[in-house]
Amino acid sequence: MKVNGQPQRTIWPTADNTAVEIIDQTKLPHEFVTVRLESMRDAERAIRDMQVRGAPLIGVTAAYGVALSMRHHASDAALRASCDMLLAARPTAVNLRWGVERMRALLAPLAVEQRADAAWHQAAVIAEEDVQINRAIGLHGCDLIRAIYQRTKSTVNILTHCNAGWLATVDWGTALAPIYAAIAENIPLHVWVDETRPRNQGASLTAWELGQHGVAHTVIVDNAGGHLMQHGLVDMVIVGTDRVTARGDVCNKIGTYLKALAARDNGVPFYVALPSPTIDWTLQDGVQEIPIEERAAAEVTHISGLADDGKIYTVRVTPPDSPVANYGFDVTPARLVTALITERGVVHAPDEAKLRAAFAAS
Ligand code: MRU
Repeated sequence: MKVNGQPQRTIWPTADNTAVEIIDQTKLPHEFVTVRLESMRDAERAIRDMQVRGAPLIGVTAAYGVALSMRHHASDAALRASCDMLLAARPTAVNLRWGVERMRALLAPLAVEQRADAAWHQAAVIAEEDVQINRAIGLHGCDLIRAIYQRTKSTVNILTHCNAGWLATVDWGTALAPIYAAIAENIPLHVWVDETRPRNQGASLTAWELGQHGVAHTVIVDNAGGHLMQHGLVDMVIVGTDRVTARGDVCNKIGTYLKALAARDNGVPFYVALPSPTIDWTLQDGVQEIPIEERAAAEVTHISGLADDGKIYTVRVTPPDSPVANYGFDVTPARLVTALITERGVVHAPDEAKLRAAFAAS
């Protein structure tokens, strides 16, 4: 996608192939800053501190993290240690495990002296695959948007939660990929952007990337979605996901489940866009089995923003002694999901049989 009219990805190798660069997403939307990752520890820190975030981008950054570690030490012990450290960076998005294990599976059988080059090449392959997968998700999801437009002949209103746009992937995004594809077809649409407290990925990131691309959008507080749906102002919901179980339960940013409930009560279709690395085939019951990340209380007790003097300030919003809980994700049961939008096509009323059929070798 483009930033200030220039093509931009979220992660890319430096020209001399000694490091990777990322966009520091903690600085958006007020500053566009890139950061150089030179070691596995840099990559691990970038994931943990959410300079990179979004399930697919976490997976690709972890793959590059393994590759960076192989540049320094490529022994079996070093491979094991760096994989373990990266795996512990964030618990919920399964793409992290997917990226790390794919690297480990390739590298472990190789001779130590072959590992650095092979790892670098493989990380680049994984990054490029992410782009192609998301492009396909965009085309399949666009069919759904187009169908609504052909029926209503008026602007399609889409509600999204968190950021599942190109910033959450290498390029295109998942939930926003169909939107970008529909914009390319000149389908008139408008996006309701949930602010997505506490870290405001919607207000800070989704609003920024939609604005950069010229997509009409309105930022709303997290609790506005039900009201909008009751008044016929939402034609469809599209969200991304951090982990989908084999039977189609969807884990995504906290608050997604409430949107799915409101959508069901109001007859609004609820779509989830995902690349296949987000499917955890080892799990069934998402509510019971998916580990939910709990993050620092400071994300809830404090908020940062740009003041009129042009400086960023962080201020407290809760009483100093009030305890805080900060659950990062929730699980929407498959029964509330109208369809999963994947690179293999749209899986309506998902269950394990349909999901497995979609991803059976072709
Ligand atoms: O905590 P984050 O910002 O990493 O959470 C991101 C989300 O919940 C996204 O919706 C999800 O990763 C899908 S990204 C294509």
